[in-house]
Amino acid sequence: MKQITGYLEANKQKFIEELIEYLRFPSVSAQSKHKKDMQNCAQWLANHGKSIGLDTKVHKTLGHPIVTLKTKHKRNNNKPHFLVYGHYDVQPPEPLELWNSHPFKPEIRNRNLFARGASDNKGQHFAHLKAVEAYLKTNTELPCDLTFLIEGEEEVGGEALVRFLNQNKRELKCEGVVVSDTGMPDLKHPALTYALRGVAALEVRLDGPNRDLHSGIYGGSIENPAIALSKLLAQMIDKKGRITIPGFYEDVIKLSAYERKQMARVPFSEGKYKKLLGVKSLFGEKGFTPNEHRAARPTFEINGLTSGYQGEGSKTIVPSHASAKITMRLVPNQNAAKILKIVARHFKKLCPETMSIKLELGHVADPYIVSPKGRFAKAALKSLKTAFGHEPVLLREGGSIPIVEHFARILKVDTYLLGLALPDDNLHSPNEKMDLEVFTRGIEMSAHLWKDFAQA
Ligand code: BES
Ligand code: MN
Repeated sequence: MKQITGYLEANKQKFIEELIEYLRFPSVSAQSKHKKDMQNCAQWLANHGKSIGLDTKVHKTLGHPIVTLKTKHKRNNNKPHFLVYGHYDVQPPEPLELWNSHPFKPEIRNRNLFARGASDNKGQHFAHLKAVEAYLKTNTELPCDLTFLIEGEEEVGGEALVRFLNQNKRELKCEGVVVSDTGMPDLKHPALTYALRGVAALEVRLDGPNRDLHSGIYGGSIENPAIALSKLLAQMIDKKGRITIPGFYEDVIKLSAYERKQMARVPFSEGKYKKLLGVKSLFGEKGFTPNEHRAARPTFEINGLTSGYQGEGSKTIVPSHASAKITMRLVPNQNAAKILKIVARHFKKLCPETMSIKLELGHVADPYIVSPKGRFAKAALKSLKTAFGHEPVLLREGGSIPIVEHFARILKVDTYLLGLALPDDNLHSPNEKMDLEVFTRGIEMSAHLWKDFAQA
C-alpha cells in the first residue's frame, strides 16, 4: 500500500486538474441540444481510461452511450470481480443566474470545486478511477478484477443500462457492485448507505369546461378545475403527515430498533437544518425523526401544479383544466408499479362528477436494501475507516438510484453505496460542488477497498 499512497500523494493536484477537464463537458442528459456533448464526454472518459491502462469501450444505445472500463482480466486468475457504477450525465444547470461561477467552467474556491456534476456524479466515480490508476501506474497487482459501468441516463430515468445488463449478464457476472453516488454527513462521518428510496411518478389532469370561461358570466354555475384539483390533492396527506391512500403503507417494512439507533448516530441539528433550508419550521409524519422522514419513510410530493392564467396582472376566468406532476418516494418493500396502480385507483374514486380525470403514469424505480452486516459491507466499513480516520455510520438515504435494484434482480448481486457527497454539495441545485478533501480521501478509500474486499 505504501507505493500506492505515495502515488496518490504525488498526483493529488493532477487528479484535480483531470477532474476539471471532465467537468467541462455540459453532459446534460435531459436536454437534446447536449446530445453531442454527451457523446464527447463519453469518448473523453473512454480515452482517459485507456491512458491509465484500462480496456475501454463506448457502447451505443437507443439513448445516450454507456462507457465500460475494465482492468485487463486474465482468465482463471481466481480474483473476485466487482463492478463500479457511476453516471456521467448531469442535471440541467438552470437557473444560471444563481451560479457564482459558470456551471461548466469549474472553479476552486476554498477547498471546493464548483461545477455541475462535480459531486453528482463525476467527482465520485472519478475517485474510483484514480485509485485504479494508482495500482496500474505503480505496477501493483490489483487484488480484484474491476469493470466500471458509467452510464449517461441516470438523471432521466433512462432504460439503456437495464437493457445492457440483460444483454451482458455473462461478462458482468460479479461478486458485487460498488456505487459512490450518495452522501456522507461530514468528514468525520464517512458512511455506508444500505438502503435507498424508490420513486414513482405520475401526472394528473382534471378537465372541466371546454375552454377558459368568463368568471363573471359563468362563475358559480360550474366547478373550478383548479379548486377541484387542490381539494383532491389536499386530501392525500393528513394533519399527522400520514399519506391517506388506502394500502399505501401495506408493504413498508418496519424500522428495527438497531436501525433507529444507527440513524440517531447521524449528527442532526434542527436549528441548522431549518436555516440551511430557509424554512420556519419542519413538518413530517408523527412518530418519526427528521432523519427518518427524509430517508426511511415514504412521501407524496407535488412537483409542479398548473392551471389558468399565470401572466402579468389579472384575468377573470374559470380555467378549463388543472394538472399536477406528482412523485412519491418509496421505501423497502414497497413496489413502485403496485403503488402507481393504487394511487391511480384512488384518484379516480375521489374525482368529482364535475370533472373528467386523466392520469399519465411516469417512471418508476423500486427501493433498495442490503444487509449492512455482510462480509463485503464489513470490508467497505473498514476501508472507509482507514481513509477517513473515523468510525463510519450506517445510513438509509432518501434519494433513488434506479439501476441498483436492477443489479440485484438481473445480476443477482448486492450493491455497496459508499457516498462521497456532503450535505452542502448542492446536488441538483445551483453552485454544485465537490469537497476536494473528500475527493482525495475517497480515492484513498477506493484504493483500500479492493484489498479489503479480496480479504473478506
Ligand atoms: N445521486 C442521486 C441520488 C442520491 C442523492 C441518493 C443523494 C442518495 C443521496 C441521483 O443522481 C439522483 O438524483 N437520482 C434521481 C433518480 C430519479 C430521476 C429517478 C433522484 O433521486 O431523484
Ligand atoms: Mn447521482
